[in-house]
Amino acid sequence: MPQASVAPNPVQPQAIPSASARIVILTGAGISQESGLETFRDPDGIWAKVRLEDVATPEAFARDPDRVHAFYNMRRARHRTSTVAPNAAHAALARLEREWPGDVLIITQNVDSLHERAGSTKLIHMHGVHSKARCNGCGHIVAWEGDMSTATVCESCSQAGGMRPHVVWFGEMPLDLDRIQEALVACDLFISIGTSGNVYPAAGFVGLVRKLGVAHTVEINLEPSRGATMFAEAHYGPASVTVPAYVAAILPARDNG
Ligand code: APR
Repeated sequence: MPQASVAPNPVQPQAIPSASARIVILTGAGISQESGLETFRDPDGIWAKVRLEDVATPEAFARDPDRVHAFYNMRRARHRTSTVAPNAAHAALARLEREWPGDVLIITQNVDSLHERAGSTKLIHMHGVHSKARCNGCGHIVAWEGDMSTATVCESCSQAGGMRPHVVWFGEMPLDLDRIQEALVACDLFISIGTSGNVYPAAGFVGLVRKLGVAHTVEINLEPSRGATMFAEAHYGPASVTVPAYVAAILPARDNG
């Protein structure tokens, strides 16, 4: 009987991490693009259609909260549609967490829940999440799925007008920076997936990791990001192909050797 041909793995890692390697993965909008969610800075991206100054700053919310709520209500609804689901790249990272003997931590800039839905559990949402709301008045954070408006009342302080998406806007401090810094300092392998490298502090993580001098750095993206030359290794193509291929290549390589 003829043997079924096995397609060669399109990704050949240049360095195979040791079994105890601590892996930190930074993800951006590119990993969710094939799940049906738009990126921000691609030609058809969100910031090509809406000015971020109008919807994603504290000043925009103070000036025109209805507009900001309308934008986030639309995005939250989009994330809930049945066609938006984790793709093979999210699944591969969940597999890596399950099968890698060392620590695996995902730091995501994404506010969607696709990593969790794929099965990842060690995850930091540094730019917040669509699935929560926060009261600007008392700071109370609550799970949120539906629409929000200036009439929405905070269940904790009973005030209306202050409820907002629990996402980090431009000019605000990303979440969990202490834990992130700790993980970056301690990691042996840093992988950046699907991010254009335009927004700090995330865009500076590769520089920080390199400055500390020990970790191997890998970029996986559709095309070279702004900080591409900072990475020791790179693989370009759609995340749904490159990420599973990279994960498959480092898992058996570790098992064999
Ligand atoms: N597979 C892999 N990479 C992809 C794919 C794909 N299918 N599609 C697009 N990309 C790449 C693009 O080439 C680009 O480099 O993903 C990157 C997406 O970049 P951005 O749109 O800038 O998204 P991101 O880097 O996550 O943005 C950072 O900016 O406005 C904000 O707060 C928002 O968290 C976001 C932050």
